[in-house]
Amino acid sequence: MMLSDYDLTVLEEQGWLYKSNLSSPNIVNIGQQIGKPIPSKPDRNLTDLLLPKNSSEASKGSLSSIYGLEEIPFHTDGAYHYIPPKYIILFAQEELPFNIRILDFNLINFSNDQLATLSYDVWIVKDKFRNFYASVLTNSLLPGKTILRYNNHCMIPGNKNHVDSYQILEKKIKDFNYISLCFEPNSILILNNWRILHGRDKVVHNHCSQGILERLFVME
Ligand SMILES: [Fe+2]
Repeated sequence: MMLSDYDLTVLEEQGWLYKSNLSSPNIVNIGQQIGKPIPSKPDRNLTDLLLPKNSSEASKGSLSSIYGLEEIPFHTDGAYHYIPPKYIILFAQEELPFNIRILDFNLINFSNDQLATLSYDVWIVKDKFRNFYASVLTNSLLPGKTILRYNNHCMIPGNKNHVDSYQILEKKIKDFNYISLCFEPNSILILNNWRILHGRDKVVHNHCSQGILERLFVME
């Protein structure tokens, strides 16, 4: 399965693309059509299999280890990459026992002062392999591109008394009407991760689906 020109236009303009009832899509092939697939961490396979887990069963440091089966707040994926992946592709073979939440950062009404704060406030990004400084919005990593990075579990404000960008974002996110997407069987969701925040509803397990998602990171 290849993405059509129409699909690519929707992804470019809307920032995300959802397609359902596909016949066995290969997300690595789809990823190669829009960029360069990369592993989510250096010691991982190209694609990850994500399964809702209780916090005690989830791998240490993951969002599931913090939230378990509860709702997962808005974030971008791969915030611990020096340059986060531009696209995230998610594939589910079965209907998911939770909805995915989608929030387009570009649709949030920020003042120029708030955007400046999001660009200049320093955060420390931490993961198993390295720590580095970054801001929520970055223009300096790739010429002409603005990159969004936000995951307040692997990012902590550089100055603990100075949490302006955290407060600005959390307030705007709380007041914003996000899209809630119900995954049908054999569906893919592609997110422009430099622009779209995503989260997840609380998991409501049923007997038909374990809620497995296959995920691929794609660099531009
Ligand atoms: Fe995520």
